[in-house]
Amino acid sequence: MQKVSEAVAFTLKEMCGYAKPGMTTKEIDDFGAAVLKSFGARSAPALTYGFPGCACISVDNEFCHGIPSEQRVLKEGDLINIDVSAELNGFWADNGNSFVIGKDLNNHSTLVNASKEILNKAISNIKGGVKISDIGLLMETEAKKRGFRVIKNLGGHGVGRSLHEEPDELMNYKNRFDNRRFKKNSVVAIETFISTSSQIAVELKDGWTMVGNKGGYMAQHEHTIIITDGKPIILTEMNEIFN
Ligand code: CO
Ligand code: CO
Repeated sequence: MQKVSEAVAFTLKEMCGYAKPGMTTKEIDDFGAAVLKSFGARSAPALTYGFPGCACISVDNEFCHGIPSEQRVLKEGDLINIDVSAELNGFWADNGNSFVIGKDLNNHSTLVNASKEILNKAISNIKGGVKISDIGLLMETEAKKRGFRVIKNLGGHGVGRSLHEEPDELMNYKNRFDNRRFKKNSVVAIETFISTSSQIAVELKDGWTMVGNKGGYMAQHEHTIIITDGKPIILTEMNEIFN
């Protein structure tokens, strides 16, 4: 798990550093694919779902699962999300980062920083025995406090022997019918879905890209972690999304 987590974390960090105004999302994806390959890791969405790219790259009104494209040229001030997940030697890890391309001309940094703070806070509160829905409540409460919403049909998930495994549907809100608890020594991908207006993500006709039912913007930050009796071990720490 450490090896595959380092592969996805390093690849994500390199891709975020590489992305500049004037580049296409395909150029960033090709760059990331080469970095991932240097670890011997394989793209998880391509392997699992036949995704037409290596990483999901979503820009502006696109929330997630955006397809890298030669047509999509990045502009100064664009909000971008890069999500890198991969398999290496039968183990799988997942991480993601939303950030602003170049100067923050459109004032997206409030949303981006809120999402980072919420992920950090959620992770700090997860340990063996904690109710999954209590972390959801914390995330939604923290989003509301900052004037934002959460997406209700996207969630974190168990990860390890496949990209998505139990416990699935780790939501950003309190599901009062969910009595599950986080288990010590299990590995999960915790991710935020913080939005300016929408609460539901809907798929476009391309069959991949998701946008908001009420438009607006969304920020996502994601780490793969090991749950312990105390603070979780952040396996993808090397992505430096909190820096
Ligand atoms: Co994930
Ligand atoms: Co992900």
